[in-house]
Amino acid sequence: MAKHTVTLIPGDGIGPELTTAMRRVVEAAGVDIEWEIAEAGADVMDKYGTPLPQHVLDSIRKNKVAIKGPITTPVGTGFRSVNVAIRKELDLYACLRPAFSIAGSGARYDDIDIVLVRENTEDLYAGIEFPEGSDGARRLIEFAAAEGVGTIRPDSGISLKPISITGTRRIVKYAFDYAIANGRKKVTAVHKANILKHSDGLFLKVAREVAEEYAGSGVAFEDYIVDATCMQLVLHPEWWDVLVLPNLYGDILSDLSAGLIGGLGIAPGANIGAECAVFEPVHGSAPKYAGKDMANPTAEILSAMLMLKHLGETDAAGRILAAVRAVIGEGERVTYDIKRSRFGTTDGAVGTQAYADALIERL
Ligand code: NAI
Repeated sequence: MAKHTVTLIPGDGIGPELTTAMRRVVEAAGVDIEWEIAEAGADVMDKYGTPLPQHVLDSIRKNKVAIKGPITTPVGTGFRSVNVAIRKELDLYACLRPAFSIAGSGARYDDIDIVLVRENTEDLYAGIEFPEGSDGARRLIEFAAAEGVGTIRPDSGISLKPISITGTRRIVKYAFDYAIANGRKKVTAVHKANILKHSDGLFLKVAREVAEEYAGSGVAFEDYIVDATCMQLVLHPEWWDVLVLPNLYGDILSDLSAGLIGGLGIAPGANIGAECAVFEPVHGSAPKYAGKDMANPTAEILSAMLMLKHLGETDAAGRILAAVRAVIGEGERVTYDIKRSRFGTTDGAVGTQAYADALIERL
């Protein structure tokens, strides 16, 4: 019997080729994993009538650990995000997105070491929306007027932004526990509490209460307004350590920090709950590169590196990270995105699988 059984969701767009490369690298690192393949996304709609069949969730619940490729979400209409649905269904409340510099990535900075902890279950991502012209929107508009809390134009679509004490407590606690376990020095809560007094205001109040409970832990606490955080992240990326954010700001700032380290191609992530963990890159399905053997699998492979740490396979995780650092550091057998940011040209770029070959040779 394999030492670990992991659910593997290849995803769509560039997902299948990236997860193939990831799997090859993990297996070459000598980790004994049985992959339970579970398909989800637009391609399985016809077969199962849903982009997220029940057996996919059952497989993750059974194995407790999954790794996935990106899955496309239709814009504006069509089904809701499968990625968000997986996080909600399994209550994967903590989205962990470390952004660390990899020499040779072509990034503007070389000393980034930030960890974003994004709340994953509420805020504007709760999916509670009322379309323009709907009965629900009309009643909400009437309710707001009757309560005297504000006038909403009658032709408005409305998305709700719920932020709870429960959701905030556990994500801020997660951020502190992560900081302590990983030798970090500071947690910064990011918010817009000056304007959104009852959602972000609550987030800030609860974050401060949790921080009090961790006084004496050796981890400092501060809070920062989200817009100012964006500017200071770009001006002084070395200021930051662990950031804890409500869902939407976490989404936006993780792309910003991916930009600081050289792009989406190298930014890994994890969604963690009390029971299960699902690892996936920050980036999406990049449809224009699908099937072209061009996309950079580093983010997917570093997501596997995080997964291996979670599984206690720290030696293999360390060797994979070292191989990534070596191959990107040399800058020869790297994908188009790294060539372009580092050398200003995609000349000499290798494909997804050839890059994985280079990693495997360095393991
Ligand atoms: P995206 O991240 O797929 O692509 C944006 C651009 O980033 C690409 O055009 C490409 O230039 C670059 N890029 C992304 N990944 C790369 C890689 N591995 N190697 C090299 N370059 C890479 O974002 P976009 O276009 O906004 O979303 C496309 C689809 O993916 C949408 O349907 C979106 O909903 C979905 N998505 C899924 C996510 C997930 O599965 N967790 C996360 C984000 C988006």
